[in-house]
Amino acid sequence: AEPFPLPRDLEGRRVVVSAGGTAEPLDPVRTLGNRSSGRQGYALARVAAQRGAEVTLVAGTTADLDPPAAVELRRVQTTREMRDAVLDAAKAADVVVMAAAVSDFRPAALSVGKIKKGDEPPSIPLEFNPDILRELVTEDVPRRLVVGFAAETGDDHGSVLEYARAKLERKGCDLLVVNAVGVGKAFEVEDNEGWLLGADGTTQPLPMGSKAALAARVWDAVAERLR
Ligand code: CTP
Ligand code: CA
Repeated sequence: AEPFPLPRDLEGRRVVVSAGGTAEPLDPVRTLGNRSSGRQGYALARVAAQRGAEVTLVAGTTADLDPPAAVELRRVQTTREMRDAVLDAAKAADVVVMAAAVSDFRPAALSVGKIKKGDEPPSIPLEFNPDILRELVTEDVPRRLVVGFAAETGDDHGSVLEYARAKLERKGCDLLVVNAVGVGKAFEVEDNEGWLLGADGTTQPLPMGSKAALAARVWDAVAERLR
């Protein structure tokens, strides 16, 4: 149950949300993929629909989740399938949120037969997948808001926030949701912690909370920028 009535501030808006991981087939039984339950993307889609948006949810590999009510769900597996579905739905969209954990690489070749164990472990040549977010921000279409997600760790060369700010600039999106990744954080757990960075220079902390609460913060920031 919602503690407060939800605003209808996305009424008449079309939004696209990607969720889950992408998985690239290697042979008939194996894939190379990214680990993601899809829960954050599903929460974003559900909350957007509750706030009045017309929502397309493009879902890759996810946990066994209930499809959100009043949302068009398109299922995909590979990054290229996700790219086609997202770009197609994005044509008519006001906002695209890339919450999916997209596989950056794919095996250069798909083996028709199952790769045998053999005497030596095989080397698997990889090639780059398309960068969906980059395509969204460079595509020659009327301006729409693009929101990216990043799970970051800090190290000796920079903090989580410094890496995230650099990524926002590199990717060219309008908003970047940053999850600080550590043991037991962000992956396959119920809570997130991080920041919402704006291309306009804003940095908003996202306190520990549910994925629905984080989704509400993201849509608040989007609705403010759509006004
Ligand atoms: N993304 C995408 N297409 C890709 C890779 C990432 O659309 N091929 C999107 C993700 O959905 C996310 C954002 O880009 O919203 C940032 O993803 P991330 O993996 O953090 O960025 P990369 O540029 O791939 O950098 P790296 O993996 O090296 O940190
Ligand atoms: Ca990546």
